[in-house]
Amino acid sequence: TDGDGTADGTETGTESSGDVVPDNVVIGSDIPYRPFEYNTASGELTGFDVDIAQAVFEEQLGTSYEFKPTSFDSIIPSLKNNNFRIIMSAMTINDERAQEVDFSDPYFTAYQTVIVRQDSDIQSKADLRGTTVGVQKGTTGADAAQQLKEEFDGELELNQYDQVNGAFQALVNGQVVAVINDNTVNAEFVNNQGEGQVRFLQGEGAAAESGENAPDYLTLTVENYGIAFRQDDDEFRQRVNEALAAIKENGTYDEIYAEYFEG
Ligand code: ARG
Repeated sequence: TDGDGTADGTETGTESSGDVVPDNVVIGSDIPYRPFEYNTASGELTGFDVDIAQAVFEEQLGTSYEFKPTSFDSIIPSLKNNNFRIIMSAMTINDERAQEVDFSDPYFTAYQTVIVRQDSDIQSKADLRGTTVGVQKGTTGADAAQQLKEEFDGELELNQYDQVNGAFQALVNGQVVAVINDNTVNAEFVNNQGEGQVRFLQGEGAAAESGENAPDYLTLTVENYGIAFRQDDDEFRQRVNEALAAIKENGTYDEIYAEYFEG
């Protein structure tokens, strides 16, 4: 094979950290994760991360970029094996990952949230005890579900799916009682493909406690997304941080944000 990011991420690719800023930035990402990275009906790759990449790499750093589809569960080993230069995949910055990769400055705030079927009996977090929940493998949603399982003294089953759409499908089909996943991605499913079939679990939570401008649905965590780099790639990471700061400063970030999240 050609060293593409494979399921186990063990093959070694060609995207090592040679130039400080490469001519073409190869970006590992698990697709689809709508609205961050997904294909339109006509097959065009789009999303918040894609537009941020366009602004950072093409407009600010004058390089081209390309997204390389990769399984989320093996995306960090795949980065370390040089299958791509960076990860942009709605990836949450956390301590465990920060031991393996270096993150850019945060570029998005997210919460873990719970969706259930529209007609579900589940009304609160406590009602989830003894049920089966669906998560995407390797995500902070899976971590939040594991945390909940501990709170429930083990009385929670986790069904793990390679992609988030597998979990969404299992929810609609009744194979799981809830899906735990990032708020804006759950919202996209609630408002589009899952419209009329699923709803958010309501309630206060982590967002309210942290004094954030809290959404009205239950939030299990507060998280920040970052772009991930190999630990030998500090000069490039600094250039990307400067570019991120520039697009926040010049209004481009706000325009992209408004396109996906206000409208
Ligand atoms: N924010 C979550 C995490 O970092 C989920 C990210 C999943 N991203 C994706 N493109 N599938 O674990």
